[in-house]
Amino acid sequence: MDKRNIVLVGFMGTGKTTVGRILSEQTDMPLVDMDSIIEERVGKSIRTIFAVEGEPYFRNLERELVKELSAQSTQVISTGGGIVLNPENISDYEKTGLVICLLASADEILNRVLHDDTRPLLSGDKATQIPQLLKDRQLFYEAISHKINTSGLAPKTIAAQIIELYKTNNP
Ligand code: S3P
Repeated sequence: MDKRNIVLVGFMGTGKTTVGRILSEQTDMPLVDMDSIIEERVGKSIRTIFAVEGEPYFRNLERELVKELSAQSTQVISTGGGIVLNPENISDYEKTGLVICLLASADEILNRVLHDDTRPLLSGDKATQIPQLLKDRQLFYEAISHKINTSGLAPKTIAAQIIELYKTNNP
């Protein structure tokens, strides 16, 4: 039976992939990680794609993948933090799924990504870049109807809240 997708959106380091894994186990729907698919298809890391082809090229690949995935069902989709930049991405995903935005404070995000050097948009001084980028994108994340403030919550608890929402929120 076809089931609505669960689509996780949110800034880098808000736990989309970790929570997505738990949701995938609990719902028996496969986890589809957008960044991993793009890396596999292009044969390069996200960092290299940004460095060699540039961000607009990446955003275009992201847009095409949203069209493809939103036309399918029964998936837990972990998105890249920048998909909110194009509102069409969110409206496409909302047609076939429950879209949830995970929120976290700049300090928490910094703690989680401090030792990660795979994210091209956080390759400089992360303590400056994170609050700046969060501010630039705040309106986009806030515009999503379902949001979870993940502060102090374990990934399992976040997943449980999403499953509850998924059960009760039928279109
Ligand atoms: C990006 C987030 C990354 C990745 C790319 C750009 C962004 O994904 O898509 O580095 O613009 O916020 P994660 O949110 O999974 O880190």
